[in-house]
Amino acid sequence: MDLPQIVCLSFFHYIPHPRNTKFTMSLHRHVYLETYGCQMNLADSEVVLSILASSGFKHTDDLTRADVVFVNTCAVRENAEQRVYGRLGDFKHYKRENPGVVIGVLGCMAERLRKDLLESESHIDLVVGPDEYRRLPELIENAIAGHKGIATRLSRSENYDDIIPLRTDGLTAWISVMRGCDKFCTFCVVPFTRGRERSRSLASIIRELEHLSACGFKEATLLGQNVNSYSDGNYDFADLMASAALVDRSMRIRFTTSHPEDMSEKLIRTIAEHENICNYIHLPVQSGSDRILELMNRTYTREQYLKLVTKIRSMIPGVSLSTDIIAGFPTETADDHRMTLDVLREVNYDGAFTFRYSPRENTKAWQLGDDVPEQVKIERLNEIIDVQREISYKRNQEMVGQTAEVLVEGESKKSTRDYSGRTDTNKMVVFPKGNAQIGQYIKIKIERTNSATLFGQPVARAARVYEASRLAANGYG
Ligand code: SAH
Ligand code: SF4
Ligand code: F3S
Repeated sequence: MDLPQIVCLSFFHYIPHPRNTKFTMSLHRHVYLETYGCQMNLADSEVVLSILASSGFKHTDDLTRADVVFVNTCAVRENAEQRVYGRLGDFKHYKRENPGVVIGVLGCMAERLRKDLLESESHIDLVVGPDEYRRLPELIENAIAGHKGIATRLSRSENYDDIIPLRTDGLTAWISVMRGCDKFCTFCVVPFTRGRERSRSLASIIRELEHLSACGFKEATLLGQNVNSYSDGNYDFADLMASAALVDRSMRIRFTTSHPEDMSEKLIRTIAEHENICNYIHLPVQSGSDRILELMNRTYTREQYLKLVTKIRSMIPGVSLSTDIIAGFPTETADDHRMTLDVLREVNYDGAFTFRYSPRENTKAWQLGDDVPEQVKIERLNEIIDVQREISYKRNQEMVGQTAEVLVEGESKKSTRDYSGRTDTNKMVVFPKGNAQIGQYIKIKIERTNSATLFGQPVARAARVYEASRLAANGYG
């Protein structure tokens, strides 16, 4: 395996927060960290590990070596929280056998449940929300001294701009470019767990991309709960994407998640103009019924959404689109549900992430009750999944006989003889290893597909193995 080694720590410039400089941490305590939820949480976990590394902690994947056990949590749906409770149960046993171990809950559940979590789960020592990670070394030290800790203040400015995340992959990287969400969709807990929107400066993001390029990364995904509402005061998301694309033409740029309201023509043009900005947009519609969209506070109608899709398709030929769908939102009728199925068919999405509505305390939709019976939600969800599976299969079938450029990402999960990687349209491709190497772009002739994966044969290394044609992103300094 020819993965580039990530040793570019010369760039590592975590500046200790004044609050963190008053104590020293004994070297080589081990921290074990499990992450649940969205990519933002994955990116946050890398920030957490970076902060802890600069206080002398070592990351371990082996729970039995851990002095500190963290779980970075998601609160978006009830079942996400149930999974975490299950895991906390396992950690309870671990703590019983190792009483000195510090157990901490980080992330969105910590923010949502705060002291309730400390009170209901006696083995938990720390509850720390997404904007308080700089305080972790100090909080751990206190916990070791026997003081439980809670830190769940949300910030209007914290964006961990100065911290280079501790990445372990070497090929594909997440970069948080903005945090929080101001959209307040009525079903969603994120504005409460992540706080108000704030963006990093364009210059600092570009510096991070330059560093990733120098370390050999081949793909960067710009992240935000509402990534296309990015604004650093001077530049918008289209400006950011344009300069990100210029950092290293051999590095693919992805982004997620876009809100339809903020999908400007300038942004669509920017995606179309740059070959290394991937032709893939995750553009959640949530429902096909105007009545439900209004109750959700999604700020667009079905017709406006469909018009946007037509515009995107006409400006970015071959673009691939995916969506999120919620089944069984309060008051949803069979007719509303049918309209959602219609939208799936009309847009012809390449993929969809589908969820059963889960009421979340303190959200606006919570007050609407939860009147769609669970069984009906399940039936509707299954129907949505079936319809989308058929559409995805047809979309993938259109690729048979075509040649696609794939970034070789690693061994296929199902066969040691195969590699897998994604097309720029975010489709997973499995192919025989041959002479291919991880980190290369390679042309694959697609021979067959199912609804989730394409299968093919390597034809050649892609011409676009741009020999590090790095261009500086001038003008945004
Ligand atoms: N910021 C992103 C994603 C937010 S969470 C966006 O706006 O698209 C990811 C998805 O979870 C949402 O798009 C929505 O489909 C789903 N979701 C959020 N809250 C939910 C709830 N209470 N019940 C069911 N699904 C939910
Ligand atoms: Fe939640 Fe809506 Fe914000 Fe997405 S845009 S995080 S669904 S409130
Ligand atoms: Fe979950 Fe928080 Fe992400 S609620 S979806 S981990 S922002």
